[in-house]
Amino acid sequence: MADKRYLVIGAGGFQGGAVARALLRRGCDVLGFARRGGPSAFRAPGVPLITGDLADPASVRAAFDGITHASVVLPLVYDAELVSAFARNVVEAARAAGVVRLVYNTNTPIPAEPTGLPAYETRRAAEGIFRESGLPVVVLRPPVYLDNLFSPWTGRALVNDGVLLYPLSASRKVAWLSHTDLAEATVAALDAPGIEGTVLRLAGADVVDGPGLAAAFGSALGREITYIALDVGQFQAVLGEVFGERAAAGVAGIYEYAEVADPWFFAASPAPAERALGIRPGRIQDWVAVQPWEVWARA
Ligand SMILES: NC(=O)c1ccc[n+]([C@@H]2O[C@H](COP(=O)([O-])OP(=O)(O)OC[C@H]3O[C@@H](n4cnc5c(N)ncnc54)[C@H](OP(=O)(O)O)[C@@H]3O)[C@@H](O)[C@H]2O)c1
Repeated sequence: MADKRYLVIGAGGFQGGAVARALLRRGCDVLGFARRGGPSAFRAPGVPLITGDLADPASVRAAFDGITHASVVLPLVYDAELVSAFARNVVEAARAAGVVRLVYNTNTPIPAEPTGLPAYETRRAAEGIFRESGLPVVVLRPPVYLDNLFSPWTGRALVNDGVLLYPLSASRKVAWLSHTDLAEATVAALDAPGIEGTVLRLAGADVVDGPGLAAAFGSALGREITYIALDVGQFQAVLGEVFGERAAAGVAGIYEYAEVADPWFFAASPAPAERALGIRPGRIQDWVAVQPWEVWARA
C-alpha cells in the first residue's frame, strides 16, 4: 500500500466518513477532505484531514498533492452551477496529480430521463463531468441508505411507538444499502482492476416494500413494527428546519420522483456490482440488530 495514497472527499460526512474508516481499517494511507476539522471530522476519527472548499480550486489542488486514488461524495448542495464547479475543480486537481482511480458516488440512483429535479440533475451533470474527463473513473449509484432510518425522525417513533416512518409509498420496493456496504463497494471500486469507465448500481441484499422492511425490523428487534408512509411535504418541512429550505426541497424531490419512478428505481439487480467488485452486501435484519436504537428512547 506504500505507493498508494487515498483522498476521501466528504470524509466528515456519513458516506465519506464510512469510506475513510474502511480505508483506515485496511491500513491504507488515507487523507480526508472537508471544510472544517474538529467536530465535523468526527465520523472518521484517526483519519488525517486536510481542510479546503470544493469551490476553491487551489485548496482542492493542494488536497490532491501526492494522491493516487480518490473517493468523491458531493455534499448536500443543489445549486447546479456550484455542483458542476465542484466536479470541475476535482477533475482538474485529479488530473494534475495523475490519479489512477477516482470513484464518484452519485448519492442516489440517476433516472434514465432528465427530471428537472436538482437532487438528480446536479448529480447527473457531475457524473458527466467526471466520465468525460478522461480520468480513470468508476461511478457508483447507490439506492436509499439503511442509515437514513437511524435518525431522530425515524428512530424515536420506531423505539417509542413501534412505527417505521419513511417518505416512500408502502408498495415501493427498495434494496436498502448500509453505509458500511457502500464503503466496502467504494474501497473495492478504488482498487479493482479493469473497471475504469463503468457505472455500477449498488443494491443491498434484500429488496423489500414498506411492510417487508417493517417485518425485517420486527424480526431483528423481536417486536411488531408497522410501516407508515410519511407525507413528503411533512418530511420536507422537518428537514427544512435542520438543513434549510433549498436543501430540504432538493431531498424531497428525490422522494416525490419515487412516486412516478419505474418499480426498480431503488432496487437495481445486485449482480453486476457484486461481480465487478467482489462484494456481498449484508441483510437488513443484521444491520438493524447491531444499531444502538436505545439512544432514541432517551432522546
Ligand atoms: N441515498 C440516500 O439515501 C442519501 C441519504 C443521505 C444523503 N444523501 C445525499 O448525499 C449527499 C450528502 O451526503 P452525506 O449525508 O454523506 O453528507 P454529509 O454528512 O452532509 O457530509 C458532507 C461532507 O462534505 C463536507 N463538505 C460540505 N460542503 C463542502 C464544501 N463546499 N467543500 C468541501 N467539503 C464540503 C462536509 O464537511 P464540512 O461541513 O466540514 O465541509 C462533510 O464532510 C446529499 O446529496 C444527500 O442528498 C443520500
